[in-house]
Amino acid sequence: MKLFNEIIVVFHLLGMAAIVGGWLAVRHDLKIVPAILWGARVQLLTGLILAGFASMDKEDPPNNAKLGVKLLVALVVVALSESTWAAQKKAVAGAAQAAVASKVNLVGGLAVLNVLIAVLWRSYS
Ligand code: HEM
Repeated sequence: MKLFNEIIVVFHLLGMAAIVGGWLAVRHDLKIVPAILWGARVQLLTGLILAGFASMDKEDPPNNAKLGVKLLVALVVVALSESTWAAQKKAVAGAAQAAVASKVNLVGGLAVLNVLIAVLWRSYS
């Protein structure tokens, strides 16, 4: 079970890398690419599994406020990624590029916010 938990942590870190790395890679032509979309999906799924594992540990229970905030942020990241991905497919080439760009920046920025929450909330609470 411990190994399974650790494997999920690995996927959680790879999902984060896919969102943030994907965002950096498209910084000169901002759009949702499959790496960002799948990274967002993977983060939500692996995060929920990790939270489930963490809450099984009665001696060291998780910080539910922190997990709640991370869940909320991750839901916004997934919703924005999915809706922008769908809008991009429908849009005529070049149309509404400014709106797409700001949403992609929001997705990347919120993913970084969740990294900060993941690391700093634990250290300073
Ligand atoms: C964009 C979404 C997310 C990002 C970028 C993210 C990022 C991270 C990072 C970088 C870590 C490693 C921290 C460390 O070990 O020092 C982590 C751990 C963790 N995350 Fe997330 N996370 C996201 C979503 C979620 C969600 C939705 C949940 C569940 C509600 C969640 C639950 C957890 C848990 C329980 C751990 C601890 C794993 C362990 O060390 O055993 N995460 N997250």
